[in-house]
Amino acid sequence: MQKYIISGGRPLNGTVSISGAKNAAVAIIPAALMVRGVCRIENLPDISDTDTLLRVLEIMGASVRMINRTTVELDCTSVSLDGLSEEVWALTRRIRASYYLIGAMLGRFGRACSTMPGGCNFGVRPIDQHIKGLNALGANVRVDGGFIRARAENGRLRGARIYLDKVSVGATINIMIAAATAEGRTVIENVAREPHIVDLANFLNSMGADVRGAGTDVIKVRGVPSLHGGTYALIPDQIEAGTYMAAVAAAGGCVRIENVIPKHLDCISSKLREMNVEIEDGDDYVVVRRDGLLCHADVKTMPYPGFPTDMQPQIGAVLCCASGISAVTEGVWDNRFKYFEELRKMGATVKVDGRTAIIIGVDRLTGATVRACDLRAGAAVVIAGLAAKGVTRVEDVQYIERGYEDIVGKLRALGAEIRCVDEPDEPTSRRTDWLAG
Ligand code: EPZ
Repeated sequence: MQKYIISGGRPLNGTVSISGAKNAAVAIIPAALMVRGVCRIENLPDISDTDTLLRVLEIMGASVRMINRTTVELDCTSVSLDGLSEEVWALTRRIRASYYLIGAMLGRFGRACSTMPGGCNFGVRPIDQHIKGLNALGANVRVDGGFIRARAENGRLRGARIYLDKVSVGATINIMIAAATAEGRTVIENVAREPHIVDLANFLNSMGADVRGAGTDVIKVRGVPSLHGGTYALIPDQIEAGTYMAAVAAAGGCVRIENVIPKHLDCISSKLREMNVEIEDGDDYVVVRRDGLLCHADVKTMPYPGFPTDMQPQIGAVLCCASGISAVTEGVWDNRFKYFEELRKMGATVKVDGRTAIIIGVDRLTGATVRACDLRAGAAVVIAGLAAKGVTRVEDVQYIERGYEDIVGKLRALGAEIRCVDEPDEPTSRRTDWLAG
């Protein structure tokens, strides 16, 4: 099994460039299923979730041509549901975003079938808001036997007014995709406002859709008969950028993080400044510097533009190295503190009570053998390893590689002593079959 070996205690210095946004890519690739013609998608992150979704479309009959590591030309003209097979299901069970294929299939064919999604396991992850929205558009959605099946009455979806009971990124995305080619107008209220929601809307509009209001809490879609080909470049990954900002905060040093949209990082920058980290905002970069004492802070995760839940494990790792007592409250997920079990192996002092963790900062964490419980929990233990005294071995790194392009190469370029090795797991560590999703 692959693992990372990190010799901690070295500050990070230099420049790192951020890749395309993972959570935009995993929405836009399924959406491309609706396009009859060539979609050229640029600034794709080179990560396993992207590979998985491109492979699904290819099995369903799409032409997939990698122009280079971050640019693909997709032509889904010949895609059909006849291509759905066990080979597809083995892939769709791996990732959360596979459920966007339901919205795209309904928008293209008027019917859809996919497995229940996989993805990071941090508590209950219902899809009732997806079903509510798709049913409102006239799709009769059924979930049974581990599959989601849907069929539009009269063969085509029709516009509707939908009020989401919960702010949901996934439901906002799925309903927006399906509504793009529905007959008539759709108004979706109480929607998520994340940067990748706006990126998807911009992608759909560049392919001929009519989506307005993305980034606010109301999205209005005027359905069009079909979508045509075009070119689109993804936004930079807000969470990847935040992860490197947190790494500098924990390890110390001075790093210029390029290819970012500083506005998307406002909440992360504000919190790190509270912790005595210097952040300088440029046009398309930020410079992060930490050489003094790291101070404690309180964090509560919220939907955008609040502090992102996908940065919670990373900031939790930093606060374990900060002076004083910090409180982290998880405002989105039921159980997103599993990573603290790993950080405790490194000497972290944390008390978890429901959705709140009380962290008593320690002078230095110490290296240990830990595992990546999920994508962002994996980033958290890497950050802890960079700051810790001694050697940290990170197992189950396949979770990390689902969402971070070349994290080892990027950290090594900043002076970190980290390498990826292939060796059997230690007998004591618990093997996890991540393929189960
Ligand atoms: C997306 O997950 C992201 N995943 C997650 O990032 C991220 O944590 C989450 O949005 C919140 O920002 C992808 O984009 C692939 P939600 P999603 O629907 O869409 C409840 C990462 O690290 N809810 O916004 O599954 C739900 O239980 C991943 O990149 C319902 O009740 O999240 C949660 O409490 C991890 N019913 C809240 O809404 C529903 O039908 C937000 O969930 C849907 C969601």
